[in-house]
Amino acid sequence: MAKVISVSNQKGGVGKTTTTCAVAAGLKKRGFRVLALDLDPQGNLGFHVGADTDTSATIYDVLKEDMKLQYAIQKMPAMDVITSSILLSGIELEFTGTGREYLLKEALEPVQEMYDYILIDTPPALGILTINAFTASDFIVVPMLPDIFSLQGIAQLYETVVRVQKYCNRSLMIAGILLTRFSPTTLLGREVRGTAELIAKDLHIRVFDAYIRSSVVAGEAQSVQKSLFDYAPHATVTRDYDKFIGELLAKGV
Ligand SMILES: Nc1ncnc2c1ncn2[C@@H]1O[C@H](COP(=O)(O)OP(=O)(O)OP(=O)(O)O)[C@@H](O)[C@H]1O
Ligand SMILES: [Mg+2]
Repeated sequence: MAKVISVSNQKGGVGKTTTTCAVAAGLKKRGFRVLALDLDPQGNLGFHVGADTDTSATIYDVLKEDMKLQYAIQKMPAMDVITSSILLSGIELEFTGTGREYLLKEALEPVQEMYDYILIDTPPALGILTINAFTASDFIVVPMLPDIFSLQGIAQLYETVVRVQKYCNRSLMIAGILLTRFSPTTLLGREVRGTAELIAKDLHIRVFDAYIRSSVVAGEAQSVQKSLFDYAPHATVTRDYDKFIGELLAKGV
């Protein structure tokens, strides 16, 4: 059975897509069978890994039940991927029936044995797409910028997780908060980390020991459509992600 991990934060631009791609590519480099799934109508993940985002089937076709999920998989060098579609943005209005929280979970069932890890990149919102991702997941990784507004958003995310645990997925766990674009050496960085740990502790969430430093390499890799591990295997930010993957594995994720 694959372990399903959602990378989620309702705040925009915190590093969800970057983290999904880097963790998927890094796990694949370690020999795991990995599928990355783009559940964000913006479609950034598909672009990032250089997948075909024009003519191939997308997760929208799958959720509409026009196509089985296994036929929407594109095999890329860095990982297997399922792209998204801008049409997903209409899903809130389009899917109103009972059980709509379970669409993705059901769609993933036939490929559960084909992969060790399935990573889901979620949109910056706590709507039905994110609920579908949480319902289908074992773990949530929460990338977070080290600032006070981001810390405040965690309580809202946590409430959504509690509701999903109650109604849709008892075994859902928040694996932890991953500080992104973080400067461990500055006073502000250390203060924010301390505050993050306090807030997280109240919610019984952990802040990962690993953190991701800021680097222009992250944006460069996206623009040349390569994973960090292929574009700059020795860059600090890539080593940060590798360390994070090591921590995930050590913690049983
Ligand atoms: N460690 C980093 N250092 C510097 N820039 C980064 C880093 N990680 C991500 N970025 C940049 O920050 C921007 C946002 O990152 P990303 O797209 O991963 O965030 P996101 O949470 O997926 O955004 P959205 O909410 O819009 O989906 C991108 O331009 C990306 O290149
Ligand atoms: Mg994104």
